[in-house]
Amino acid sequence: MDFDAKAKEWDTDPVKRERATAVAAAMRNRLRLSPDLSALEYGCGTGLLSFALYRELGSITLTDSSTGMLAVLREKIEASGAHHLRPVRLDLVIDPLPAERYDLIYTLMTLHHVSDVERILRDFHTLLRPEGVLCIADLDREDGSFHSAGFDGHPGFEREELRSTLARAGFREIRFETCYVMRKPQGEEVREYPLFLAVAVRA
Ligand SMILES: C[S@@+](CC[C@H](N)C(=O)[O-])C[C@H]1O[C@@H](n2cnc3c(N)ncnc32)[C@H](O)[C@@H]1O
Repeated sequence: MDFDAKAKEWDTDPVKRERATAVAAAMRNRLRLSPDLSALEYGCGTGLLSFALYRELGSITLTDSSTGMLAVLREKIEASGAHHLRPVRLDLVIDPLPAERYDLIYTLMTLHHVSDVERILRDFHTLLRPEGVLCIADLDREDGSFHSAGFDGHPGFEREELRSTLARAGFREIRFETCYVMRKPQGEEVREYPLFLAVAVRA
């Protein structure tokens, strides 16, 4: 998908803003957020989720493979003065693992774009400090209608399958909840696409 081309208009979509706010609320409910924690957001886009959380966290590294998304994010950081937010181009499918380690990693609507899920979960495990927490917010398994033709990622995830993959990657205390329901018009109908929040602790 061409995220560079979508970057400038990304934040004009109220659904994307509402989705990030809902995921932030679910994380706040589930975790003890604190300025002592250093965090990494993977697939941050324009940073909607981190902007909803930044007052409650310490340094945040916001990563994405799209330079267009990161350009919009840089402007937002400049305008907000939130200089503990650090944008970094990173694609763990092709780039080496960074050296830094984090207390918290979170990712919203990005895992379904990554082909080798097991490998990236192992990478997240390596990037977390012991007892660090991983939060994944993404689509529950859908019938393939969420994306348009030509999409080559995952049609959402079966929670129990993802739970097993997380466990194999070295995570424990894995919990799922529904954190948001996206609604998309499809012809005469409005289709619902629930999103889960999975929270897991690095063993
Ligand atoms: C659906 S968007 C979600 C963006 C943001 N998390 C949000 O919810 O507004 C998916 C994001 O993942 C990024 N992305 C896709 N594949 C990636 C990869 N392999 N590594 C890093 N980022 C990736 C895209 O550039 C895009 O910004």
